[in-house]
Amino acid sequence: MTPKLKRAYQSEMTQMRNAYNAQDLKLSFHHLERAHILGQRNFKAHLKTHWWMLKIGVLRRDIRESVGQVLRLLAVFPASVFGWVPVGNTGGANVSALKSMSIPADLMEFFET
Ligand SMILES: [Fe+2]
Repeated sequence: MTPKLKRAYQSEMTQMRNAYNAQDLKLSFHHLERAHILGQRNFKAHLKTHWWMLKIGVLRRDIRESVGQVLRLLAVFPASVFGWVPVGNTGGANVSALKSMSIPADLMEFFET
């Protein structure tokens, strides 16, 4: 993870925690989705986003999200080994873990070569 990407990821995680502490779980999850897009190529960052998504799923008593996040947490290990990184994937249980998605315009700079 480049320093620039790491800063962007950490910024999303900070905003996620601020929203979480303010009990705005919708906004918190939104920042987690952005953090997932940025961090899914890094094992620890990827694991962390799914851990927090699980926490929010449980808090919302959202069975689908909670089960989906347990599966995604387990999948982080083989994904890391085999390099399964669907570009732009937001990480929530509302989308396939294997689906590539369009990247928000303001995050595109992190994916240009
Ligand atoms: Fe993921």
